[in-house]
Amino acid sequence: MKTESNPTVNDQAAIVDAYDPLLALIRKRHSSRGEFNPDRSISKPILARILEAARWAPTPNNMQNFQIVVVDDPKTLTLIGALSAEMSEAYLKENYALLSASEAELRVRKIGTLAGIYPRAWVDPEAWNPTSDYRSQLTYLGKTLLQPKVLFVVLYDSSSRAPGSEGDTLGFMGLGCVMENMWLTAESLGLGMHILTVFADSPVEAEVRRVLKIEPQMKIAFACGLGYPAYPTVEDLRVRRDLDDFVHDNAFRQQNVSWSLELNKSLE
Ligand SMILES: Cc1cc2nc3c(=O)[nH]c(=O)nc-3n(C[C@H](O)[C@H](O)[C@H](O)COP(=O)(O)O)c2cc1C
Repeated sequence: MKTESNPTVNDQAAIVDAYDPLLALIRKRHSSRGEFNPDRSISKPILARILEAARWAPTPNNMQNFQIVVVDDPKTLTLIGALSAEMSEAYLKENYALLSASEAELRVRKIGTLAGIYPRAWVDPEAWNPTSDYRSQLTYLGKTLLQPKVLFVVLYDSSSRAPGSEGDTLGFMGLGCVMENMWLTAESLGLGMHILTVFADSPVEAEVRRVLKIEPQMKIAFACGLGYPAYPTVEDLRVRRDLDDFVHDNAFRQQNVSWSLELNKSLE
């Protein structure tokens, strides 16, 4: 694989964005982990547009195995925010392996995230020790949930699966399409969106299901918090691999074309 540094993601973005608004939106979509504006509500027509984007997501065999609970009642948001959601040691360890301590390191690695975006205890292996004083800091749900104005909880029916799909892998891909459609639409409407997969984890899932009166066969795939960012976005460094780092030509590990260079050429 090529390792030399190609033009940065942002240089390429400037070139491509000039003539491709869809790619520009795809690049701009990002995880909003900052505070949301507590005084600015999201109107129902705006929410309806994000839900409409979910509606048109591709799913295996068009089975559309998803339901969405829109949570905008402040009392319910507070109830959910009060739930305890300690991150598992497995999650913390695996997340740790993907962290970069500095922007310089992240630029070189081109995968993962900056350690600074997470609570301090998450990036301190000492805190994961069951006897550590820091363990209480691993609980994050309240902080995350008390900020969004709206929470979408995306469910799937676990009693059915995409035809022939062991473990419903294909069904989960479809749920990913639902997520991306909603995320791009939220971004295009100036909303911040934050994915929360901790909702899919037991025992948080059981508690959220109780609060939202979700029936037993329905499982939580993920939730997303939505709101208008409280402050003009100071973007965390976001990186991606170059095209030449993952594209192969006609056979795996065969590279005849520099797709990164092709990307910078004008469309014919
Ligand atoms: C399936 C999936 C699950 C994710 N779960 C979480 C999550 O639980 N918490 C979180 O803060 N971000 C979550 N993310 C966001 C990713 O961390 C994020 O998309 C990635 O770091 C790239 O950053 P970007 O979204 O700003 O481009 C998830 C993303 C995906 C696609």
